[in-house]
Amino acid sequence: MTDKQKQELIETAVKMTDFSYAPYSHFHVGAALLAKSGEVFTGCNIENAAYGPSNCAERTAIFKAVSEGVRSFEAIAVVGGAENKDGKVEIKDFCPPCGVCRQVMSEFCGKEFKIILFDGKDGIKEFTLAALLPESFSLE
Ligand code: THU
Repeated sequence: MTDKQKQELIETAVKMTDFSYAPYSHFHVGAALLAKSGEVFTGCNIENAAYGPSNCAERTAIFKAVSEGVRSFEAIAVVGGAENKDGKVEIKDFCPPCGVCRQVMSEFCGKEFKIILFDGKDGIKEFTLAALLPESFSLE
């Protein structure tokens, strides 16, 4: 992944927060998933009145890719923030993936898969999947 690709992934993830459907938590998450082919799959969180059927941004992106026959991934950028009083999303801190999303990543992404987080200012953090989900249960 080049620095330019990383920057574009972050920008795309930020844009995806606009599509987030979060009338319950008012917390909007965007994700941009880079496939090894260079293709980018996007996702946002999609909530539901029954809460349980809600889907995170990361899983939306991964499931979109897998459902289109793509299963080889290099990196994902994830950003999230709450709405302010005017209903605008404000990204103020890092938004690390939840445990369920980490487990879904482990199904399709290798240990060296990169998770890129952006705090909305100038902070970028990058982790491998192995670092965020050590000793994981998997097909292996
Ligand atoms: N959320 C994500 O989209 N990704 C995560 O990894 C953490 C949480 C969403 C789920 C829910 O719609 C909202 O953020 C608040 O938990």
